[in-house]
Amino acid sequence: MAERNGPSSFKVGFRKSLFSFFTMTSLLFVLSWFFVMQSTYRPNPMEYNLMPNSKHLSALDESEYEMLKQNVQSSFGNIKLVKHGGKCHQNDELVIKVYMYDLPPEFHFGLLDWKPNGSSVWPDVRNNIPGYPGGLNLQHSIEFWLTLDILASEFPQAPKARTVIRVKNSSEADIIYVPFFSSLSYNRYSKGKKKEKKNGNKILQEKLVKHLTTQEQWKRSGGKDHLILAHHPNSMLEARMKLWPATFILSDFGRYPPNIANVEKDVIAPYKHLIPSYLNDNSTFDSRPTLLYFQGAIYRKDGGLARQELFYLLKNEKDVHFSFGSIQKDGIKKATEGMRASKFCLNIAGDTPSSNRLFDAIASHCVPVIISDAIELPYEDVIDYSEFCIFVPTVDAIKENFLINFIRGISKQEWTRMWNMLKEIEHFFEFHFPSKENDAVQMIWQAVARKVPAIRLKLNRHGRFSRSPPSTDKGLMSIPTPRNFW
Ligand SMILES: *[C@@H]1O[C@H](CO)[C@@H](O)[C@H](O)[C@H]1NC(C)=O
Ligand SMILES: *[C@@H]1O[C@H](CO)[C@@H](O)[C@H](O)[C@H]1NC(C)=O
Ligand SMILES: *[C@@H]1O[C@H](CO)[C@@H](O)[C@H](O)[C@H]1NC(C)=O
Repeated sequence: MAERNGPSSFKVGFRKSLFSFFTMTSLLFVLSWFFVMQSTYRPNPMEYNLMPNSKHLSALDESEYEMLKQNVQSSFGNIKLVKHGGKCHQNDELVIKVYMYDLPPEFHFGLLDWKPNGSSVWPDVRNNIPGYPGGLNLQHSIEFWLTLDILASEFPQAPKARTVIRVKNSSEADIIYVPFFSSLSYNRYSKGKKKEKKNGNKILQEKLVKHLTTQEQWKRSGGKDHLILAHHPNSMLEARMKLWPATFILSDFGRYPPNIANVEKDVIAPYKHLIPSYLNDNSTFDSRPTLLYFQGAIYRKDGGLARQELFYLLKNEKDVHFSFGSIQKDGIKKATEGMRASKFCLNIAGDTPSSNRLFDAIASHCVPVIISDAIELPYEDVIDYSEFCIFVPTVDAIKENFLINFIRGISKQEWTRMWNMLKEIEHFFEFHFPSKENDAVQMIWQAVARKVPAIRLKLNRHGRFSRSPPSTDKGLMSIPTPRNFW
């Protein structure tokens, strides 16, 4: 009997464990769904349309969503899934908790000639906002807007719609923010003073690396939960090679080796457009006389060969404006008129894959035609750019007559649809202080927030042995890093 019972009770036990395995996986599936729902920001209905694969989400209405939430909560009680409790939710909005180092002003507002009054290294943004230099500096000014947004989050009268909250205890933070205005440092210190042995930009980067790598917070995570701004393609040129475990905010990956920066780890932020927003745009397909507009430098060092090719292909087309020179001073006025009078605006890769031209085109409601195979676009995980941009592979664009025929083939109806879409999405690329709902500042924070689960995964994986006796230190080093992880 015992012998016969053995295997059959084993079978029952096996079936039981199969069943509970099945139950567990189903519950885990529901749970993970719930977390996906929570970590997906709650968009307004218009943005829903732009989100690829969002249909299964929009199928749930508010009450169903609430029920799902309660079900999951009652099934799992207050189970703690991650060490630090994950994201924080306020009024059902996604809010990211940020710890900001109190770096000396020379790293941030000091670069704007602001001087501290008293012991605080930060200006009181309620009544004193240091001015940011204008002109081309502005296109990389995200460091300024994000830092102001963090500072503003501390005041009770801060605007209601906010995506970031400053916490003073770094253990409670989702991300550790490094307030170095690296683009400004590059613009200010590395031009025109090449004769100096070491420029101020390099010195600041060295100081930053030295300071950061001795901080408790950096040592704790190896920098993995740090957020570093390097929007100008040449900013942080030296420090990037040492601080790469952090998440960078960049304009593209053109000047980065893939192990230092990549789309999994880092966040792409828009340039601040230089051309003013087109308010009350009453233009139509027929009222914009120019078919295709391009203004920019033509001969570029790397990757910009397509510009020359396209110039020779397009220069004889009557309704194409193709001219050279960067847009500065009165150039801005001309470019503003030019883009507003054009149906389509060309964005061709220059010496970097991205430029502010795309955001100037969006602000002008001039449908962007993107010829830049390595371009990276801001918040592309939630925005489908093909709804309002035309993408043409470089290899096709430089075939004779390909581009012009393609553009001429786009109907008035199709153009008007994209023009309308541009007007609806342009606010995603506007920088404000105080930040506004789903403006560029908040969209960038949300993009950072979507990186947080992956950062947690990295940290928790590497922290497996953190409570073990010191002798297992070697074990910690031996956790294999999965392929494609960075
Ligand atoms: C510095 O701060 C003190 C009080 O905090 C204030 O009375 C004073 O006017 C400030 N000085 C300047 C130059 O802003
Ligand atoms: C910071 O937060 C951690 C985790 O919540 C907590 O254990 C610690 O006591 C806090 N430190 C301070 C100084 O409040
Ligand atoms: C748009 O409005 C302006 C001023 O109100 C007017 O001068 C212009 O002709 C209008 N354009 C079109 C295409 O209706």
